[in-house]
Amino acid sequence: MGDIRALERADLPAVMALLREGLPGFPLDEEGLAAAALEDPWRDEELPSLVATESGRVVGFIRSQARPMLFDGRAVRGVCLSDLVVSPGHRRGAAGAMLLGRLLKGPQDVSWSDSATDFVVRAWRTFGGHVDHARAADFMLVLRPLRWIAAIAAARVRGRDVGRALMPVGALPAHAAGPRISGHRAPEQEPGVSGEDAGPAAIAAALPAIRGRVRLMVDWDEPQLAATLRRIEALGGDLIVRLVRRGEAPIGWYACLSRRGGAARVLHLAADERAVGAVFSDLVAAAAAAGATVLTGRAEPHLERPLRERLAAVGFAWRPVIRARDPELASALATGASLLTRLDGELSRVH
Ligand SMILES: CC(C)(COP(=O)(O)OP(=O)(O)OC[C@H]1O[C@@H](n2cnc3c(N)ncnc32)[C@H](O)[C@@H]1OP(=O)(O)O)[C@@H](O)C(=O)NCCC(=O)NCCS
Repeated sequence: MGDIRALERADLPAVMALLREGLPGFPLDEEGLAAAALEDPWRDEELPSLVATESGRVVGFIRSQARPMLFDGRAVRGVCLSDLVVSPGHRRGAAGAMLLGRLLKGPQDVSWSDSATDFVVRAWRTFGGHVDHARAADFMLVLRPLRWIAAIAAARVRGRDVGRALMPVGALPAHAAGPRISGHRAPEQEPGVSGEDAGPAAIAAALPAIRGRVRLMVDWDEPQLAATLRRIEALGGDLIVRLVRRGEAPIGWYACLSRRGGAARVLHLAADERAVGAVFSDLVAAAAAAGATVLTGRAEPHLERPLRERLAAVGFAWRPVIRARDPELASALATGASLLTRLDGELSRVH
């Protein structure tokens, strides 16, 4: 029987080999993994990334990202778990379940993972977790219908799969037919609302004003925002980060990764329910201005209204899992008064 212990720097080459083999497309290199797992500003010694070893050799890994959160103004501990992998020669020996179980038995109030396989869902259920149905779907808004259809046709003519970049959601977007056919006009931006490109310092300074009636959210600060946004930029694409104001007062912010001629993927949109529509309108305009054909992202509970107003196409995508100990926190998580976004999460596969 092997051992489970905290990840150390010397383990990184063996862990990278496991990740490349077990999770094809894993986007971080060794330095990126060191930054994310060992040098993160929020690293928590009680919730480290773990390795499973057999005769001293690394045979399994799970990544843990501590996320300090606020729930009704009080500090609670969150942790995002991701990148669970066991070497093929050591599977079905319970290493996977033990790695996950060790972290799920930790001191945190809420744990989540953004994308789960069938095994992962079964394992989370064993430890009191479940599929996070409130965040199990993605949305799609076609910004340039003619270009979008032409790109799909071109891919098919060349015998290529359409892929997630063009068709992030398996549903037909009625809004793309335009208001004359759909009978539906997208809302206009409210007067007095303006957006501006912003860096981590400006966003961190605006957060107390933005929080408003949001009950549960990750307690982002400037160093963690700076580190996380740098990490995302390294994955490629144009990162759009904007602060939105009504008059002078900040009402929300968002981060979105855009590919000219492809999809703009929303990673985070923070605003309370009175402001979310205006912030979303700024996002749609910014994604269109950046040349994206499609705007996509997770259809999180707080985005329901702006998505409904635009007849967004919504379909199942990644399968997130979640576990909260406190029943009140668990019920708040399923409502639009909670923010739990892709930026708050694993960020391994953002495209
Ligand atoms: C997913 C993964 C980490 C599981 O690792 P693992 O060490 O094989 O996991 P476990 O041994 O704990 O459990 C695997 C299965 O074997 C079963 N099992 C465990 N011990 C067993 C034993 N002694 N004899 C027979 N079966 C056993 C478990 O019940 C489980 O079955 P289930 O899927 O029906 O629940 C591994 O398959 C992997 O690395 N896959 C590729 C990467 C991946 O998909 N990661 C998850 C997404 S992030």
